[in-house]
Amino acid sequence: MKLFSAVLVISAAIASTLADSVPFVRLDKTKAALLVLDLQDGLYSLARDFDPTLYYNNMIAHAALGKLFDIPVVLSTSAQQGPNGMLPKAILDMYPSVPVVARQGEVDAWDNAQFRAATLATNRSQIIVAGITTDVCTTFLALSLRSEGYDVWANVEASGTTTELIRDVSNDRMARAGVQLLSLFSTVCDLMRDWRNTPGLPEVLPWLNVYFPAYGRLSAAHGAGLANGTIVPGEYGLLAPGL
Ligand SMILES: *[C@@H]1O[C@H](CO)[C@@H](O)[C@H](O)[C@H]1NC(C)=O
Ligand SMILES: *[C@@H]1O[C@H](CO)[C@@H](O)[C@H](O)[C@H]1NC(C)=O
Repeated sequence: MKLFSAVLVISAAIASTLADSVPFVRLDKTKAALLVLDLQDGLYSLARDFDPTLYYNNMIAHAALGKLFDIPVVLSTSAQQGPNGMLPKAILDMYPSVPVVARQGEVDAWDNAQFRAATLATNRSQIIVAGITTDVCTTFLALSLRSEGYDVWANVEASGTTTELIRDVSNDRMARAGVQLLSLFSTVCDLMRDWRNTPGLPEVLPWLNVYFPAYGRLSAAHGAGLANGTIVPGEYGLLAPGL
């Protein structure tokens, strides 16, 4: 009887845990589109919440996700003939056949009919976005997309703004609206899912070596060790038992 009540208590606890469960909405490369929003050469100077070299590389890496996973890309700029500037040449060169939706005034890209049409034309329900600035371009668009029913992923490493406070409150605002905030590596791994898929190891490792060198170097160290390495004194003690 005691055991029976314990089982009941445990089952009730499990049931209440399940009732509170949060579904893991995963990126799916067959459902995702990539938005490169206002990552413009002029606006870049407003991205002061990252080291400038790191941030430039992050912008280019964001754009390069479309190439790696062969997902549709929408490029947009705000008033690019003025001080906001053009998209970096490195991004334009990646997508010579993708037209840039050059907004003439709309701050929220979703207010622009051509941008909405380009997004709808991708026929994708999952949108990966990054822009400058985080609090205006990224947040306004992400909230608009959420209100339209899209699943939205914000690559937090590729949006930039003037201060860390502004970044944090903006990311919080998006998260409360159901936008998923994630790193570049997390975006890559969720789109890839399994190293044995295509793109998988042969395509993703060289890509990471360029855009996420922490993992590229780890892999290079392992490769060099196997190709021509020697175990140096003191290293045996660090290895798993039996090696
Ligand atoms: C749009 O996507 C849906 C769901 O994946 C698919 O059934 C439909 O055929 C697609 N439409 C076009 C025009 O590609
Ligand atoms: C391979 O290891 C040997 C012995 O340590 C070394 O002489 C040689 O230069 C290495 N080869 C390369 C390509 O690094």
